[in-house]
Amino acid sequence: MLYRNRMEHLEVPIIHRSGRVADAPIIARMARDYIEDGLRWTWRPRRIQRALLDRKTTVLVAETPRGPGMEIAGFGIMRFGIEEAHLSLLAVRPSYRRRRIARNLLERLESSARVAGMGEVQLEVRTGNDAALELYRQLGYREVRHLPGYYGGRESALRMTRDLTAEAR
Ligand SMILES: CC(C)(COP(=O)(O)OP(=O)(O)OC[C@H]1O[C@@H](n2cnc3c(N)ncnc32)[C@H](O)[C@@H]1OP(=O)(O)O)[C@@H](O)C(=O)NCCC(=O)NCCS
Repeated sequence: MLYRNRMEHLEVPIIHRSGRVADAPIIARMARDYIEDGLRWTWRPRRIQRALLDRKTTVLVAETPRGPGMEIAGFGIMRFGIEEAHLSLLAVRPSYRRRRIARNLLERLESSARVAGMGEVQLEVRTGNDAALELYRQLGYREVRHLPGYYGGRESALRMTRDLTAEAR
């Protein structure tokens, strides 16, 4: 699959696959640098590894050829509950952003959630994270709660939800 930026020459081939235990250190570093930036690093390799081995959690990776191998351009982690799914993490490397990689990852995770019988997806996002807020709003997520000090008392979050039973956009 080719992912195009608005500028045609910036297309990159993307392959989606399930995360593997060997990905844990890379995903954890991406979580530290792009998601928990400025906060305490809580998604360390061990925690990512537990998510990778957890049957109720899906770890989806978007990777692209780089040099002789492949590079993880982005990933998403979603945990399935009884009726609700929770988006735990979602990140794309800066050099691959604005190519709809996050959008695609999230849509694929939502499809899995629907198949698993989930009626809703919940997530928390830092209040100042305009890029993520815009992405989630565009995908039909609505803010349902303001959570002051959610991130270790240092930063507040917005809880957002999307009703998966509503008609497809
Ligand atoms: C938020 C993030 C995941 C978006 O990844 P991405 O692959 O660049 O996003 P997409 O290309 O799929 O964007 C889809 C839509 O979201 C919105 N969006 C994404 N990035 C945006 C930005 N920087 N500014 C404004 N809108 C943005 C746009 O509406 C975009 O559609 P468009 O490009 O057609 O205008 C990425 O910026 C990131 O990894 N940030 C750091 C980690 C993070 O914040 N994770 C989410 C919270 S856990």
